[in-house]
Amino acid sequence: MCGIVGYTGTKNATPILIDGLDTLAYRGYDSAGIAVWNGTDIVMRKEKGQLQNLKDILKNDPISGSCGIGHTRWATHGEPSYINSHPHGDDKKQLVLVHNGIIENYVRLKAMLQERGCKFVSDTDTEVVAQLLGDLYHGDPIGAITESMRLIEGSFALAILFRDDPYRIYCVCKDSPMVVGYGKDGAHIASDIPAMLAYTRDVTFMGDKQIAVLSPEGIAFYDEFGTPIDKGSTHIDWDLDAAKKGSYEHYMMKEICEQPVAFRKTAEQYVNFKSGKLKADCFPWSDEDAGAVKRIRIIGCGTAYHAGLLGKLYFKRLAGIPCESEIASEFRYSGYEFEPGELLFVISQSGETADTIAAMRMAKAAGVRTVAVCNVIGSTIAREADEVLFTYAGPEIAVAATKSYLTQVTVLFLAALRLAQVRGRIDDARSRELIDGLAAVPAAMESILAKKEKIQYFSSREFSARHVFFIGRGADSALAMEAALKLKEISYIHSEAYAAGELKHGTIALIEEGTLVIALVTQPSLAAKTASNIEEVRVRGANVLAVTNGPMPDVESHCASVWRIEKTDELLAPFTAIIPMQLFAYYMAVQKGCPVDKPRNLAKSVTVE
Ligand code: AGP
Repeated sequence: MCGIVGYTGTKNATPILIDGLDTLAYRGYDSAGIAVWNGTDIVMRKEKGQLQNLKDILKNDPISGSCGIGHTRWATHGEPSYINSHPHGDDKKQLVLVHNGIIENYVRLKAMLQERGCKFVSDTDTEVVAQLLGDLYHGDPIGAITESMRLIEGSFALAILFRDDPYRIYCVCKDSPMVVGYGKDGAHIASDIPAMLAYTRDVTFMGDKQIAVLSPEGIAFYDEFGTPIDKGSTHIDWDLDAAKKGSYEHYMMKEICEQPVAFRKTAEQYVNFKSGKLKADCFPWSDEDAGAVKRIRIIGCGTAYHAGLLGKLYFKRLAGIPCESEIASEFRYSGYEFEPGELLFVISQSGETADTIAAMRMAKAAGVRTVAVCNVIGSTIAREADEVLFTYAGPEIAVAATKSYLTQVTVLFLAALRLAQVRGRIDDARSRELIDGLAAVPAAMESILAKKEKIQYFSSREFSARHVFFIGRGADSALAMEAALKLKEISYIHSEAYAAGELKHGTIALIEEGTLVIALVTQPSLAAKTASNIEEVRVRGANVLAVTNGPMPDVESHCASVWRIEKTDELLAPFTAIIPMQLFAYYMAVQKGCPVDKPRNLAKSVTVE
């Protein structure tokens, strides 16, 4: 989705803005632009396509100055084009701005402004904000911003330069993230933390409708009525290198390989591996709270939803609590009526996914207690949920979620284990067995990663596949959904996940000679059943690869190929079994020459509905 950066200080703004846009490029975009005060005027450069196009323009036609804003646009209103790319300005040439989000009443506002004589040049909702602000501006930037907020409906993060106040950047946001920070050479703004890390680690998260005014001397904050307010800052200890690719060809491979560490870091926040016990005070439930939970609902989108499917299994099997996992965009319009004693888990890596935020707010409005599982401190979900169980995956740059999924599943497992303990559903010996099993997970992951060439070789033979089916039962059915999403989003190969027993109710008609079927068989208690389903597709010509939990001769005998994970408890198998699936998707995409980290049409953080 769109990205915003801004800088005012003592240095030349252009390289700082371009560096920030480079860092934000992973979010997905189709045009980019900057505006810089050059000492006499605000000058803009923008271009459609890759950031390199903008860099080329700046090489031939540079701009320099110490205050500027920049933007990467992911088209929503109006095609990707020079005209529609940001920054946008007003007719009277008083200001320019960049915008993330969607202005929902832009048609009405545009008509009103056209009646007042405004001439529009683009198809964007953003230009409507620029023209509106221009119309309301009479020398008082904060007044114009607060006034415009009363008229605008929708979500926005705005960074604005006023021509008659040229060394200040005015920022405001609602339902769209924005962070500001003061570094040694001036003040910075960004829509996403990684773009700030090179300049400062102490950042301030903007709240809804709050205004920040950045100047070379500092940052001042105001509420939605223009009254000055104090805001604290948060220290971000993400490693700067963690947001860099290093020697890896793609972020996705780097992030796949970081999973043993991400898993350990996350688990260690909640588990004392030495004593073999959970850190009870890291979970937000007293014995009384835990006993009062009648039902759990988990919401998320995409991969986060898939993590929720495993969470559902854990809450049911371990803690004995009825649980449903739902897609946030469906749930928010389902008319669901919460019951007393429900607990809502909100899963999101970014903490900024629009549908997930809306579903969470719906639950909060109904008085339901919300627990976020989130990777980004200070994000909207982390701020608004009643409780947060953080994942410690570090920055995830590739669009395809890998380490965030793993750490989400880890936290859900541990939350279920905690509830199971408090509700007396599990004895000490079984708890200890599971915690010891968790301690062995990083080594089991490393052993898969050490043999990744085997998966690369398999992919080199299969990358021309047009359809791939993933099948499994129980936890494997949830894993299959994540495996299929990974493959389709980065390799563009049509892939489907099916509960193995459901195939013969229709989908098996698609199986023909050579169809690749990947059977996940990590649940020994269900293996015999899945083996029958494998046989059903094998005899119809499918080329079956099985992922097994240690040696499983009764399953393997039906399959053309087998990848084994280290034998483990079936509740823990998903932690390791997802890795070969991620590697498979990665190698298939590389073989096909796909842009692995930034697949077409996708954005890292989906901040619009
Ligand atoms: C999956 O690889 C995607 N990146 C996507 O499905 C993602 O998980 C989804 O958009 C939810 O994002 P979130 O975790 O930031 O809320």
